[in-house]
Amino acid sequence: MKTMTKAKSATALPLNTILDGDCIEVMNSLPENSIDLIFADPPYNLQLKGDLHRPDNSKVDAVDDEWDQFSSFAAYDKFTRAWLKAARRLLKPNGAIWVIGSYHNVFRMGAELQNQGFWILNDVVWRKSNPMPNFRGKRFTNAHETMIWASKSEGAKYTFNYEALKALNEGVQMRSDWVLPICTGHERLKDENGDKAHPTQKPESLLHRVLVGSTNPGDVVLDPFFGTGTTGAVAKMLGREFIGIEREEAYRKVAEKRLKNTRKFDREALQVSASKRAEPRVPFGQLVERGMLRPGENLYSINGRHKAKVRADGTLIGDDVKGSIHQVGAHLEGAPSCNGWTYWSYKQDGKRVPIDVLRQQIRAEMAERPN
Ligand SMILES: C[S@@+](CC[C@H](N)C(=O)[O-])C[C@H]1O[C@@H](n2cnc3c(N)ncnc32)[C@H](O)[C@@H]1O
Repeated sequence: MKTMTKAKSATALPLNTILDGDCIEVMNSLPENSIDLIFADPPYNLQLKGDLHRPDNSKVDAVDDEWDQFSSFAAYDKFTRAWLKAARRLLKPNGAIWVIGSYHNVFRMGAELQNQGFWILNDVVWRKSNPMPNFRGKRFTNAHETMIWASKSEGAKYTFNYEALKALNEGVQMRSDWVLPICTGHERLKDENGDKAHPTQKPESLLHRVLVGSTNPGDVVLDPFFGTGTTGAVAKMLGREFIGIEREEAYRKVAEKRLKNTRKFDREALQVSASKRAEPRVPFGQLVERGMLRPGENLYSINGRHKAKVRADGTLIGDDVKGSIHQVGAHLEGAPSCNGWTYWSYKQDGKRVPIDVLRQQIRAEMAERPN
């Protein structure tokens, strides 16, 4: 991993490097339609007026750096327009972008995303479990930031690892409000004086969720406002390729050191729960054709109240109904739909076994012998 001054050629991607320079210029030097995901944490344009002090009169280490200063909203909008245009050019047609910001800038970025033809998929509220208090007591404690997740265009086939996110959330669908702590303790990088190396270092937990949810191993993730390299570090751990752009040398150095000390998780650990939609379809009839279930054999409903007989063509017949495993289940339950795979069981050695076990067996065979 090394810092480069410019992308080497117009076609090759400088993978796993931190590029030095203005992100708009650098992005424009990279090949178009080449990036799977962009994570952008741009300047907030905080418009701070004077120093902020705690009740004990100590000065708050706020974001007052030169890189966060813009002369007006118009200047900030011009900058936003330019970097989003450059980012859009880089994205593959099915690529996606995440932007993160506070109330100072996120609405301006949201409007510009839509103006440029990106398609907003969600806004996600990162609720900080340990926010900084509002010292003046004149407004609410600012306890969240907003992320916008957008595909390159409406109808694009963006990556969404629904099952993996659900698994991360203990089997419950992942919601759009994420409660995660701000970056503190060992994770917070320090300079040689023991001060924060960067005022806005994001927590790795946030990037972990973003990357597990919206990329796959081997995908290329670009961060045009790399800072301390949080995106790169998490991408590396998760087996994704990264490209960082950062124009401040001090931050590039911090990021380089961090990345050097970051290890990729092993291959097995990187496998996540697959999306059900991505798993190969197995027709119920195949279980019958292959003799895993025999015509005439009874299947039993999950609640034990109903049974139906398997027919030679892979349909079921009950007392007053015949049809697919799903249709018969739905009819018997008086429900608009039913997932027959999880509704029906067969009997083996006197015990009920869900028919889905047989489907998984076939899928496992398919995975061992692709094509
Ligand atoms: C909000 S911080 C990103 C922090 C980062 N997410 C992290 O976890 O460390 C924005 C960064 O963008 C950099 N930056 C600002 N304008 C830039 C530009 N035009 N080109 C490249 N980098 C820029 C700043 O130096 C700063 O480090």
